Amino acid sequence: MNKKILAAVAASAMLASLSLTVHADSDVTIGVAMPTQDLQRWNQDGENMKAQLEEKGYTVDLQYAGNDVQTQVSQIENMIANGDKLLVIASIEGDSLGTVLAQAKEAGIPVIAYDRLIMNTDAVSYYATFDNYLVGKTQGQYIVDALDLDNQDGPFNLEMVTGDPGDNNVNFFFGGAMDVLQPYIDEGKLVVPSGQMTKDEVATQGWDTATAQSRFENILSSFYADGTNLDAVLASNDSTALGVVNALAANYTGEYPIITGQDCDIANVPHIVDGTQAMSVFKDTRTLAAQVVEMVDAIMTGGEAPVNDTETYDNGTGVIPSYLCEPVAVTVDNYKEILIDSGYYTEDQIQ
Ligand code: BGC
Repeated sequence: MNKKILAAVAASAMLASLSLTVHADSDVTIGVAMPTQDLQRWNQDGENMKAQLEEKGYTVDLQYAGNDVQTQVSQIENMIANGDKLLVIASIEGDSLGTVLAQAKEAGIPVIAYDRLIMNTDAVSYYATFDNYLVGKTQGQYIVDALDLDNQDGPFNLEMVTGDPGDNNVNFFFGGAMDVLQPYIDEGKLVVPSGQMTKDEVATQGWDTATAQSRFENILSSFYADGTNLDAVLASNDSTALGVVNALAANYTGEYPIITGQDCDIANVPHIVDGTQAMSVFKDTRTLAAQVVEMVDAIMTGGEAPVNDTETYDNGTGVIPSYLCEPVAVTVDNYKEILIDSGYYTEDQIQ
């Protein structure tokens, strides 16, 4: 992690902890399993969770799994063996935790799925996330508005890049965006020259920037090398958007396309400012952490956790009661207010 990211993580965790009041549950350890430290947001999520839980008096066992499923399974096994009283888990692959979570259930340890739903296990008590469908819809609508698709005939050229197919969020990000874009594709106002339009065709293993970049380089050399203009790219998050931006920088000379994103990563904000990425969807990790801490506290004190959605997120064993935080679209016009004035980043960090 570079210094800017470390400083941002520390600052945001400090800010989050300052706003909370202390109450003691000192001998209770909460296990927090995060997918990876490679992507800025999970560092922020982890640090915010740790700071806010400690502020409430809990001991925190925070683990990152390097995006390796087996590592995450072992970390959770250790949390159970060590007597952690509740597990908060942002899974790497939604379908791979059934066996280990059966052990958690057997031991009476409640589980909160953090950000990503954990699939096909009845051991998950609650789910806290952002409104993932709204994230996708916001990205799709941004493209519709920016190309003025309700008034223009086009046709405009669109390409799509989504995330890891094993991440249940992808179904909502990509599904939400396609619910908005598909009618314009059907009308012929949007066309996809590569023909790559299904979730599997546009997926990016591990949400990896280099993987997205190399797929996009292939698209550019196969379908745009003859001077065909690319008008818009639906990128589901910032790490994949960065791959697209990199591919374009080296392989494309046409009119610059609209590119969407998600997370407002430090690496992407300068692109939002200079116009090489049109927008990102901001998900304030301080808000999600605060919500999860409330859930933890309610469960540990024998109450019901606050939820605001009991319909949307079925993990294959039934609907998991969920709390959905609200995502916000960020562009060059509002990034100062949303990212800097709110104390999420300092001006220095994003230059
Ligand atoms: C998260 C996104 C993130 C992506 C890659 C998704 O599950 O919701 O915020 O960009 O994973 O880590």
